[in-house]
Order: sequence, then C-alpha cells, then structure tokens
Amino acid sequence: MLDSILDGLSDRTGPTDLCAELAAPFAARMVFDVVGVREEDRPLCLHRSHLLRVSEGPPPVLDPARIRVMADTGQDEATLAFFDVTEHETLAARIAYGLLFLLAYPDQLCRLQRTPALISSAVEEILRLAVPGGSWIPRYAREDIEFGPILIERGDLVVFSLQSANRDEGVFPDANRFLIDRSPNQHIGFGYGKYHCLAAHLSRLLLRTAISTVFSRMPGLRLAVPLDRIEVDRTQVTGGLNALPVVW
Ligand code: HEM
Repeated sequence: MLDSILDGLSDRTGPTDLCAELAAPFAARMVFDVVGVREEDRPLCLHRSHLLRVSEGPPPVLDPARIRVMADTGQDEATLAFFDVTEHETLAARIAYGLLFLLAYPDQLCRLQRTPALISSAVEEILRLAVPGGSWIPRYAREDIEFGPILIERGDLVVFSLQSANRDEGVFPDANRFLIDRSPNQHIGFGYGKYHCLAAHLSRLLLRTAISTVFSRMPGLRLAVPLDRIEVDRTQVTGGLNALPVVW
C-alpha cells in the first residue's frame, strides 16, 4: 500500500505535502481496512470526520449509507464516530511528526540510516514526543486517593496530560530532545492500563514501516520550507501538522 502511494509520487519535481499525500491516505486506508469499511463508503466516512472536527453544530445525521457502514463493521455510531475522528488522524499525525523530527534532526536521521535496527526505538521516541498539547485524558476517581499533599476525592474528575507526562524531566533526562536510541523510554503515548490503545502494536508496526520505507525510497528527502514555517493543525482532536512540504 505504501509502495503504491510512493509510486504515485515518483515523478514529482516540485514540493509535495507528505501529510496530504502520504500520511493521511495511508492511515485512512489502514484504519478502514482494519475496521472493515467498504471502498465506496470511505469518502463518506472521511467527510463525516471533517464535519465532526470543524463543525460546532450538531453531529451529521444518520443516512442509509452510514447505516450500511454500521452493519458491515458491526460497530455502533458512537464507536464509528470515534474511529472517524481520532484513529486515522492519530496515526497520520504520528507519521507526519516522525518524518518531521527526523528531517529536523539530521544527526538522528543519519544514525538511523547507518543503523536501520534503531527504527523500533526511533518510533518509541516519536510516540513520546508527538503528543499534542491538547491531548487530555479524563478519568473519575472511584475511591479517595492520596496523591502527595493532595486528596483526590471519590467522584472527582482528574484530567491527565499525556504530553506533560511524556516530557517529565524526572523520567526522561533532557526530555525535550529527540534521541532515537533513548533507553529506557517508558512513555504513555498509547495511554496506560485498562484503556491502553487497542491498536498500539499495529500502530507501531505501521509507523516503523512508513518511516523506514519513506527514507529508504527517498534518501535525499528534505524540508521544502524553513522549519519555522511548519504549522500545527489546531482543528484536529489528536494534533498533527497543517502540511509537511518536502522535496527529494
Ligand atoms: C500512533 C497512533 C495512535 C496513538 C498514539 C493512539 C493513542 C491512544 C491513546 C492515548 C488511547 C487511550 C485513551 C484513553 O486512555 O482514554 C487510545 C485508545 C484507543 N485506541 Fe489508539 N492510538 C493510535 C492509533 C489507533 C488506531 C489506528 C486505532 C484503530 C484502528 C486505535 C484504536 C484505539 C481504541 C479502540 C482505543 C480505546 C481502548 C479502550 O478504551 O479500551 N488507536 N489510543
């Protein structure tokens, strides 16, 4: 799948946006395949995803095509909305950030190209750092919990910041640096415990495949704009970049 997307880009001469032309279509196709959405229903799912992200109005109505997607996948509307909004975006955003980090840190890219076996730990470092600032996870305390000087009372809402945890200097020395061989690297980019991401292994595999395939097929890949022109997409629940313009 990735090779066919890259084949389609092979005759490009000018800048190409790898968010729109590689990360997003690859992630969407993978998630639709895993969830079991028919080819003809995919544009509808992507459209709903867009509506849910940008609109402040009521959620899009259930039409016959949507009902067919529910029947095909065996998922209810709430679960499908979850997949629409978060899952392909989440993966696409991590692929784009991963490519960006490696392009922004040429010494780390050089190490990865010299030692391809570092791809697994490079992906963990991408997952640690590529968590958007607005990524909050809400939980309600089931019992009173003493946390240092604070008492969290039963029923209290506690909001966790994955980004803050993943950049905790007490756990990750020099936490803001991107180091592809960081070890140990016990980040919580996939959450923790009961609600740990169901697709963590799949996502790791897809990230490893995407990052190593792109750099092996495009060894001269570089940013087409200065780093400070790369913008974060603030409309996405799970973060991401507006565009990743590159040349190769
Ligand atoms: C790199 C990509 C991904 C990241 C960083 C990620 C991250 C997360 C995080 C942080 C959670 C925990 C949410 C919580 O604690 O409330 C989660 C849950 C979940 N993720 Fe992912 N995710 C990714 C990709 C995917 C994909 C591709 C799928 C589906 C194909 C998926 C399916 C799920 C599901 C079903 C849950 C809920 C698990 C539960 O509540 O039992 N994720 N993910």
